[in-house]
Amino acid sequence: MLARLLLLAATLPALLVLSDETCSGHGQQVDGKCVCTAPLPNGGQSDYLPGYVGDDCAQEVHPLYLTGQDVQQTCPAGKACNVLGPGERVCLAGSIQTMLDTDYHMDILLKATNADARVMLYGLLVNFTADTDPSTSATVWSSQLYPNSTTPYSLTLRTTHNETETHLHLTRRMLGWGAYNGMFLCLESQHATIFELRVATGTCPLRLLDDGTRSVCSGRGQDDCPRGSCTCPAPYAPPPNWVATPGLGFEDCSATLQPLLPAAPATVTAQAPGTWSFFEVDVKGVFEMTLTVAATAATEGTLELYGRHQLLPAAQEGAYDAASSGHEWWSGLTTHLTLRKTDGAFQEGTWYIGAYNRGPQPVTYSASASTEACPGGCSGVGTCDAASAACTCASPSAAAADCSTYAYNLTLGAPLESAPRAFMLDHVMLQGVMSGLASPATSDLVVSVSFQVADAAGGAPAELPAWYVGRPMLLVATSDTGSAIFPEGASARLILDKPGQEYAMDVGPWMLVDDALHLTLFNPLPATHLIGYKLAVSVKGTCLNACSGHGTCNNGTGLCACEANWDGGDCSVDLSQFKPANATQPACSSGTTSPRHVADQKATCWAPCMADQSGFDPEACADFTCDDARSRRKGSALECVTDACLPGNYMVTDAAGNSACLKACTCPDDGGACSMGGACLPGSTQCLNGLTLVTDPTEQCVPPMVPVCDEGALRKAYAVEGGAAMGLCTCPAGPATLSCGFTQPDNKTANANGVVVCGAGYELQGTSPKPTTLSDGTLVTTGGRCVRAVHHPRGVSGGMVFFYCLLSIALAAGLVVGSKYGVQYYEQIRYGNSIFSQGYISWARGGTSAPGGGNADDW
Ligand SMILES: *[C@@H]1O[C@H](CO)[C@@H](O)[C@H](O)[C@H]1NC(C)=O
Ligand SMILES: *[C@@H]1O[C@H](CO)[C@@H](O)[C@H](O)[C@H]1NC(C)=O
Repeated sequence: MLARLLLLAATLPALLVLSDETCSGHGQQVDGKCVCTAPLPNGGQSDYLPGYVGDDCAQEVHPLYLTGQDVQQTCPAGKACNVLGPGERVCLAGSIQTMLDTDYHMDILLKATNADARVMLYGLLVNFTADTDPSTSATVWSSQLYPNSTTPYSLTLRTTHNETETHLHLTRRMLGWGAYNGMFLCLESQHATIFELRVATGTCPLRLLDDGTRSVCSGRGQDDCPRGSCTCPAPYAPPPNWVATPGLGFEDCSATLQPLLPAAPATVTAQAPGTWSFFEVDVKGVFEMTLTVAATAATEGTLELYGRHQLLPAAQEGAYDAASSGHEWWSGLTTHLTLRKTDGAFQEGTWYIGAYNRGPQPVTYSASASTEACPGGCSGVGTCDAASAACTCASPSAAAADCSTYAYNLTLGAPLESAPRAFMLDHVMLQGVMSGLASPATSDLVVSVSFQVADAAGGAPAELPAWYVGRPMLLVATSDTGSAIFPEGASARLILDKPGQEYAMDVGPWMLVDDALHLTLFNPLPATHLIGYKLAVSVKGTCLNACSGHGTCNNGTGLCACEANWDGGDCSVDLSQFKPANATQPACSSGTTSPRHVADQKATCWAPCMADQSGFDPEACADFTCDDARSRRKGSALECVTDACLPGNYMVTDAAGNSACLKACTCPDDGGACSMGGACLPGSTQCLNGLTLVTDPTEQCVPPMVPVCDEGALRKAYAVEGGAAMGLCTCPAGPATLSCGFTQPDNKTANANGVVVCGAGYELQGTSPKPTTLSDGTLVTTGGRCVRAVHHPRGVSGGMVFFYCLLSIALAAGLVVGSKYGVQYYEQIRYGNSIFSQGYISWARGGTSAPGGGNADDW
């Protein structure tokens, strides 16, 4: 490839001569396209000539220096290098040779004066070649590849309204270890603005400050980095055995490593998003060690803990031996990691615990270590036998080795009281619920519960901090699998918001499993808050018509005890009006009715007086009333139905525990029993288990918004001659990004559906006539194959070589994320809004024509 490049360089002067006006005087038409003959600026102050790039070779290119100076300071006389109007573009080019020779790090600072401008910077990495002009013996620099609408760009950086200053940090590794010696930067913006652009390189990790000076090694290390890494003072120094891993923050003295002793908590102040802090703990002669981090103020930052024996952990799979659970942080901005002798990954010795901030805001927190001789310190309620590391739990029946889970059998009507303690799940079971009721149909069951909070030191009852998201909950289990219940897998739940308040819920038949009620008290709060509670299931009888004032209601059974001479389920029948059967008078007067109990229906049939008044009709019922308050006559049938629920809406969790929604208890028109509707009421679905709600076309809970891919991202499907066919990430129109997916190019039929990317010396031919349209209207060319270029082998796609090189680095580092129209490579989010990506710049046709040609010195 090198030989070919040199050969091409030698042909350049000839092309210069052939420049014609259709390419703005700075290019040569080949196959209907302009090949710009002098893409790089050349000459000194007096004979300065800008370079010209773009589809029409009309875009001026000015020099770029890696000195940290603002581009306007180095801009050629009479030119504006820092002003952008809408639709305008500024391009600069410069050598990055120092990144091959001495430097390891480059920082690009881009700052827009107008916050709304949204300045977009596109970078193209290229190889500059030098050639000697035979007529003047001067060195002429050129580049085979230059920015236009079909040249893929290698990196981007943009300002946003909230972030008008942004940085891109590049390392020698990211620049392909010397694959490129030059760089084009082109900028455009949505609104007119003046911008500041500074680029500087150095051996140490550096960050450009506003005045063009550099802060190296986060202002902490020495100014000299032989291998591109800083030598940092404690506590910014990595452990002695550290195998340099970029991204943890020790290469630029931004991460700390502090020893953590059980008696001495450490604090970390404002740990930035995307960064790490490390702690060193010595785990020896203990059964269990728990590392706890707790935020000391509200934040949207999210700490995750990773532990590794003898080595620094990282967040990738395989780079840690133990990790904190993801759920915990949200309930109380605290999370922990437990190293326990009985765990597979446990080893005695030095452990490094890394706290990574995955959220969007800095976190200030304290970190502490505690040791226990028994699992979980027996949750503070059992006694520990240190020799065997076993807990003897003080509960009725402990269902966990650390006494953290209790299982109580509840007695109807007798409250269960639990003193404040740290626990996560307590299981409570009430057996024989319906069969234990004297009159199930007229009695309702009510669960009532209240809780109180005490702080861990046993102090006065505390309120919960307002920013604690988690609240204790009473859950009704859908199965009797007891201890395995997960909070989300509940058929009903009651959130206990305020300490001291009583919460109650009716027990519906659908909450019972084999006539048993399984309740779980779930406490998501951190162990620093002890929770005590009082729980009771009681019977509430409902007497029909309040016994019509002629009886007394038994509140336990809901049944009436009628006074003498009164009868019926509701004591409404006055027996005194019925004459004795042996009377000579007519047996009954027309219009009156006589009650006849129908035992199997638990109902009363009101027999009408027959027309001859000889007695009550034993066959007919003028009216039919049900004995039980919960039973109703089914329409006009001689039948009672018992409702499964009272009319109204109830929050019900699905069997899998993935969602909760309001379901209506409805009563059919024909008088049948009321029952819980199968369908969720529209708009009422709430997702559990960390799932996300999708409302289109129906409400469903789906795995969280980690789309398979970002629309427009490419993924290599297979190699083809001269290049590769890539799957293109496409998404259906509308908000359902979850169903985005990569197309599967077809190997046999001209790579249909795939984006074919050709390597050096090949060009794409036979693309499908109909481009693929992305949801935002962008057209993407698909199909075709790579054909060896015959006409102009200059089409060496360095960008693509770089792209693959970068892609493989990124894949190896596990850091590829999909992007809009390309592959993005986030080196370290910490360096700001830095995105390394691949795509195409759109160039408007036209532009001003400028004098062509050029012979010059180097620049
Ligand atoms: C863009 O530039 C390349 C060289 O970098 C050239 O081969 C190609 O024809 C140009 N494309 C257009 C549309 O001018
Ligand atoms: C750029 O030039 C260097 C030195 O001539 C060479 O090693 C490298 O492969 C070239 N890079 C590309 C992408 O052609």
